[in-house]
Amino acid sequence: MNILGIETSCDETAAAVVMDGREIRSSVVASQTAVHHPYGGVVPELASRKHLEMIMPVVAGALEQSGLEPSDIDGVAATQGPGLIGALLVGFSFAKAWALARGLPWVGVDHLEGHIHSVFLESDPPPFPFVALLASGGHTSIYHVVGHDRMAHLGGTRDDAAGEAFDKVAKMLGLGYPGGSIIGQLALGGDPNRIKFPKARLPGCDFSFSGVKTAVNRYLQAHSESWAGEIPDIAAGFQEAVVGALTEKLISAVLEKGCAHLALVGGVAANGRLRESVGRAAAEKGIVVHIPPISLCGDNAAMIAAAGYHHLSAGERSSLAADVYSRAPLR
Ligand code: KG4
Ligand code: ZN
Repeated sequence: MNILGIETSCDETAAAVVMDGREIRSSVVASQTAVHHPYGGVVPELASRKHLEMIMPVVAGALEQSGLEPSDIDGVAATQGPGLIGALLVGFSFAKAWALARGLPWVGVDHLEGHIHSVFLESDPPPFPFVALLASGGHTSIYHVVGHDRMAHLGGTRDDAAGEAFDKVAKMLGLGYPGGSIIGQLALGGDPNRIKFPKARLPGCDFSFSGVKTAVNRYLQAHSESWAGEIPDIAAGFQEAVVGALTEKLISAVLEKGCAHLALVGGVAANGRLRESVGRAAAEKGIVVHIPPISLCGDNAAMIAAAGYHHLSAGERSSLAADVYSRAPLR
């Protein structure tokens, strides 16, 4: 079954063709980073306009790359939410129209369920049940995943998402948007132990990242003359605090649920230090780690097609009246 996936929830216009929820036949991602960069964050109105401009060429590109004809597509899946309403509407409406015109089944997919499915696109996907940490720019949550559409939310951030904290700290340091990968790069040349930033202590699987962000801000104020020369150490110290919290909570959730496998997904899963830290802590406990390649950590449509495949093959269909949503039932 070849599924055309479409994703436009934030600042990436993406389309992909995936076979049987496992094999990527094509994946095209048009990033809007350059559009939003001057504003230091995503401007919703500009995102919608750019999606409108890009949706047709991106879908055409994904079809061409797949080597398939539109008649070879068996179903369509598009991100329904959470995300920016105006941005979601572009991909969701396009998917409805594309499917309707061809008499194909189509389904709306939750973006977070999509991120979790990025791990099924690797050669050795995790068996159920497993625990997944989804860390992105909008979400930071831990799930107990027992089936393709059965996942329990075990906890999540009470304030900023992990990626959001990376982006805000990058902005404070004058490094530009999006900041996660820039901080990750700079931290490579810094000492993670010279400047210690606090880790919040919350119960269970809950996180808080606003404290560490404020601590960085206070450090900058207290060292206004010298901090510009300490950026790699600040980046490394901040990254260490975030990575430490994510690793600790994830490993304890896996142990508590008695799972042998974990998955790390979402934009922040591209972070080298997080991959290393989770890898090491999991190895000590005999837990098998599954992390998608970096190209599938950030927003993409292959993960949406993969999640959509399971809904469509179970006979699920979305109605033409279905609407997008901005906030997540899955959190
Ligand atoms: O999953 P994603 O592409 O979009 C959302 O659904 O939010 O995640 C984007 C987030 C941004 O906050 C970005 O700064 C962060 O992922 N990110 C990283 C890295 N690469 C991207 N954070 C830390 N280290 C990285 N290497
Ligand atoms: Zn995302």
